[in-house]
Amino acid sequence: MLADKRILLIIGGGIAAFKALDLIRRLRERGASVTPVLTKAAEEFVTPLSASALAAHKVYRDLFDLTDEAEMGHIELSRAADLVVVVPATADLMAKMAQGHANDLASTLLMATDKRVLIAPAMNVKMWDHPATQRNLATLQGDGVLVAGPVEGAMACGEFGPGRMIEVPEIVVAIDAALSDGPLSGRKVLVTSGPTHEPIDPVRYIANRSSGAQGTAIAAALRDLGAKVTFVTGPASVAPPAGVRVVKVETAREMLAAVEAGLPADAAVFAAAVADWRVANAADRKMKKTEGAGSPALEFAENPDILKTVAQMEVGRPGLVVGFAAETHDVEANATAKRARKGCDWIVANDVSPATGIMGGAENKVSIVTADGVEDWPRLSKDETARRLAIRIAEAISG
Ligand code: C5P
Repeated sequence: MLADKRILLIIGGGIAAFKALDLIRRLRERGASVTPVLTKAAEEFVTPLSASALAAHKVYRDLFDLTDEAEMGHIELSRAADLVVVVPATADLMAKMAQGHANDLASTLLMATDKRVLIAPAMNVKMWDHPATQRNLATLQGDGVLVAGPVEGAMACGEFGPGRMIEVPEIVVAIDAALSDGPLSGRKVLVTSGPTHEPIDPVRYIANRSSGAQGTAIAAALRDLGAKVTFVTGPASVAPPAGVRVVKVETAREMLAAVEAGLPADAAVFAAAVADWRVANAADRKMKKTEGAGSPALEFAENPDILKTVAQMEVGRPGLVVGFAAETHDVEANATAKRARKGCDWIVANDVSPATGIMGGAENKVSIVTADGVEDWPRLSKDETARRLAIRIAEAISG
C-alpha cells in the first residue's frame, strides 16, 4: 500500500545506483512520492537530472545549499518522509551510518531523521565480507535499521558472491513491508535457536557446533514484519536480536519448559540444534581424574523432542509449526521423513556437511519441505534466507 506514501530516497555512489532510477519509477507507479537525495559519489553514476525527471521532484544534493535551507531545512527534509530508503547502500555509507557521521547531506539526513530507515546494500564481495562492513551491519541492525539483501550473484566488477543488491521489485516489497504495520503485526511467533549444553558435571558439558546465527536472523526477520517474537535461545555465539523477548536457556529440558511457557503462539520455528541426549548420570561435583581409575562411564538419556511435542499438541498447537533438519546426506529424503515423523507443517532442510561451511558460517542453502513437496532455495546469506522464510510464514498465517 504505497499510495500517498512519501519516500526520501538516498542514492549512494555505486554501480547499482542506476537501479535507483527504476525504483523511483516503480514507486511512483504505485502512488508514492519520491524525494531523491544524491551523494557526491552517486552523481558519478546517475545524473541529478534523471533522478529529478523520474521523480518529478527536486533533487537534493548539498548540505549547504542555502536556497534549500530557506525552502526546507535538512532536519525538516529528513522528517517530511514516511520512510528513508538508501539505494544502493555502499560500504562507505554503511560505515558513516554506523559511526554516526554527519558530514554531507545524506549522512546528516540519516542522523536527523525520526523515521524508519531501510537500506539495500550493494558492494564488492570482499567489501561485503570485510569484518568492518560486517561489524557496521551488526551495529545498524542493532539500531533498528532495516536491511534488505544483499544476495549472491554476478557483479559488475566481474566477481561473484554476496554483495549484489536485491532486485528492484524486491526493494519495493521491502519498502511496502516497512511502511505497513507489517503483515505479522498483532501475531505472536516463538523461535528456538542455538545449541543446548548438556552438563557432564558442573564444569563440563556436551554441545554442538550451532552458532545460533540462522535462528537469530529468523527472529529478527519476523520482528521486522511486525511479529511479537519470543526468542528461546541456548548458549549461542551470536547476540540475540534487539526488539524481541529473549529467554536464555542451557539444556534441552529448560528449552522445552521455556517453549511451553512461551505458548500460545500463531507460529513456532524450531531452529535450535537441540542435543538429542543428555548425560543421565551427570555429577554434581567436578569429576576427578584419579590415577588408575580409568575413564568415567557416561550414561545417556534421551532428551525431550521439543518440536515433536509442540507439533503434536492436541490443545494449543501453533497454527504453523516449522522444524529444521540439519543433515549431512540424503537431505531431501531425510527431511521429508522427518516432517512426517515429527508432525510439523514445514521442514527447513540444509546440508551441514563440513565442506558446505554452513554450520557457523554466514550463508545457508535450504530446501523447504511442505505438504506440497520440496522447494529448493539458492545459497543465500542467513539473513536473506530468514527474510524469505519470514515472508512465507506471514503468507501462511495471514492468508
Ligand atoms: O531430530 P532432529 O534433531 O534431526 O530434528 C531437528 C528438528 O527438531 C529441529 O527443528 C530441532 O529444533 C528439533 N528438535 C527439538 N528437540 C530435540 C531435537 C530436535 O525440538 N530434542
